[in-house]
Amino acid sequence: PRTAAVLTAAGSGSRFGAAVPKALVLLEGLPLVAHAARRLAESGVVDLIVVTAPEAFLAEFRSVVGRSVLRSSGLSERPESAGVPVLLTAGGASRQASVGAALAMLPPSIEVVLVHDAARPLAPAALVARVAAAVRAGHGAVIPGAAVTDTIVQVGSDGDPAVVANPDRSALRIVQTPQGFDRALLDRAHAAAAHRAVDEAAAATDDASLVAALGEQVHVVPGDPDAFKITAPRDLELAQLALRAGLI
Ligand code: C5P
Repeated sequence: PRTAAVLTAAGSGSRFGAAVPKALVLLEGLPLVAHAARRLAESGVVDLIVVTAPEAFLAEFRSVVGRSVLRSSGLSERPESAGVPVLLTAGGASRQASVGAALAMLPPSIEVVLVHDAARPLAPAALVARVAAAVRAGHGAVIPGAAVTDTIVQVGSDGDPAVVANPDRSALRIVQTPQGFDRALLDRAHAAAAHRAVDEAAAATDDASLVAALGEQVHVVPGDPDAFKITAPRDLELAQLALRAGLI
């Protein structure tokens, strides 16, 4: 089946504190969004990439992701035929709205959609392929899940610091991206969420939770430590050290 990847990069990066959107911040000379696009293309399973960018920075994003990304050797200056075509769209006010805008741009031929965050620039091509393979094997919604090594507690809502639950760590997973979906199921989940959002303050933080809200099953495949999220400047430093040490 034809597979598209939605690469979300329309966040302001306010927690990161840079003058440009976080996805444009350089890691070893390459913007985070370009690292992520390159690994999506290298997976060999993606036919089209749609990048969501902040409206005010569309031109900058176009210059760093180009019109196509080579499958093998990184960013392409060459025409579409040389690699995976890249479309750009302005994101929305929330991550959910940004993904919705990207879904609206997909051609009818797309049957499988991967949703990936530019904030996870080093998620390996093998992880992308693993998620896509699980969707192709018949799972309508697939997420990478990594084991939890810390003890996790649940505290009260509204910042109440009292511990209200001690969940069993062995049954918890850290959810990463890319997440993979049957296209029709993801469209349905976003349409339902767009209706709910009218009276709900917070948008969902990922796409699989929107599918779960429909009562549909979400399947977990093994995650990858390299798919860690870059939130604060410290995370960028760690990514740089890992790349330089040849760990990633
Ligand atoms: O804010 P958070 O870290 O959860 O954002 C996750 C991803 O969603 C980031 O890659 C960010 O660029 C993207 N995003 C988006 N549109 C928004 C907000 C976030 O595409 N309005």
